[in-house]
Amino acid sequence: MIEFRNVHYSIGNKKIINNVSFHIPAGEPRIIMGHSGSGKSTILRLILGLACPDRGQIIINGENICGLNEKKMREMRKQIGMVFQDGALFDSMTVGENVGYYLLEHTDMSLAEIEEKVRRMLGFVGIGEEYIDRLPDELSGGMQRRVAIGRALLSTDPMIMLYDEPTTGLDPQMTTNIINLINRLMERNRVTSLIVTHQIADAFKIGDKFIFIDGGEVAFDGDINGLRDSTDPRVVEFLEPFRKAVAHVHKIDFV
Ligand SMILES: Nc1ncnc2c1ncn2[C@@H]1O[C@H](COP(=O)(O)OP(=O)(O)O)[C@@H](O)[C@H]1O
Ligand SMILES: [Mg+2]
Repeated sequence: MIEFRNVHYSIGNKKIINNVSFHIPAGEPRIIMGHSGSGKSTILRLILGLACPDRGQIIINGENICGLNEKKMREMRKQIGMVFQDGALFDSMTVGENVGYYLLEHTDMSLAEIEEKVRRMLGFVGIGEEYIDRLPDELSGGMQRRVAIGRALLSTDPMIMLYDEPTTGLDPQMTTNIINLINRLMERNRVTSLIVTHQIADAFKIGDKFIFIDGGEVAFDGDINGLRDSTDPRVVEFLEPFRKAVAHVHKIDFV
C-alpha cells in the first residue's frame, strides 16, 4: 500500500507538492493524471525516497519512509520497481546487460544463471532472444520501454511498480503491448501499480480509479463515474478534449 498524508514539498521557495493525501491499497492500480509540470513525477520521486517531504508522511507497506535510515530505505526500494519516463536504459550496455545488471552487481549468481533469468524475462516482456546482444538505440521506443520494465522486474522483487508516462511517444500497437504488460504484471503478483499518464484513453485500459493532480494539489481522487460527473473546473477543463471518450465508458474494457 501507498499512503500520502498531507505531504508538502518545495524546491527552493517554489511549492511543488501542496498538502497531498491519498491512499492506495495493496494490489490495486491507480492512475495519476495531470498537466505537464503539475507534480506527477515528483510524487514518484517522493515514493522512491529520492526526495523528502518538508511536511507530512509517506507510508509504504505500513512504514513511514521519511524517517528511514539509508540502509532501511535501500531495503524498501528493493520492493519498488520504477520505469522512468524515457525508459532510461544504460546506452552503452547491451539489452541483456541492462536487464541483468542488478543481478550481476548485487548477487553472487553465476553468469549462466543470470543469462537464463534474463532470457526468461525478455520472453516475459516480449523481446526476442536475438536482441539480447543489441544496444538500446538499435531498438524501437516501445521495445526500449519493455526492456526497461524487464530491468525493473529483475532489479527488484516489486510489491509496487511505478510507471512514469509508460506509453508517451509510442505508436498505438506498442502502446497496447505496454498496457497489456502492465495489466499482466498486476494480475500475476497483485503488484500495487501507480501509473502516471496524461494519455486518458490509455489510462482507462489500466484502471478505473484516478488521482488528478493540478498545480501540486489533488484536484480529484475517485473512480471513473466521479471523474465523468465532476464539476470541478480543473477536471472539466482537463477532460474536455476527451469528453466523448469518457462519456461512453461505463465498464472498463481491459485489453
Ligand atoms: N530540480 C528541480 N528544480 C526546480 N524545479 C523543479 C525541479 N524538478 C521539478 N521542478 C518543478 O516542479 C514542478 C513539477 O515537476 P514534475 O513533478 O516533473 O511535473 P510532471 O511530472 O507532472 O510534469 C514543475 O513546475 C517543475 O518545473
Ligand atoms: Mg513527469
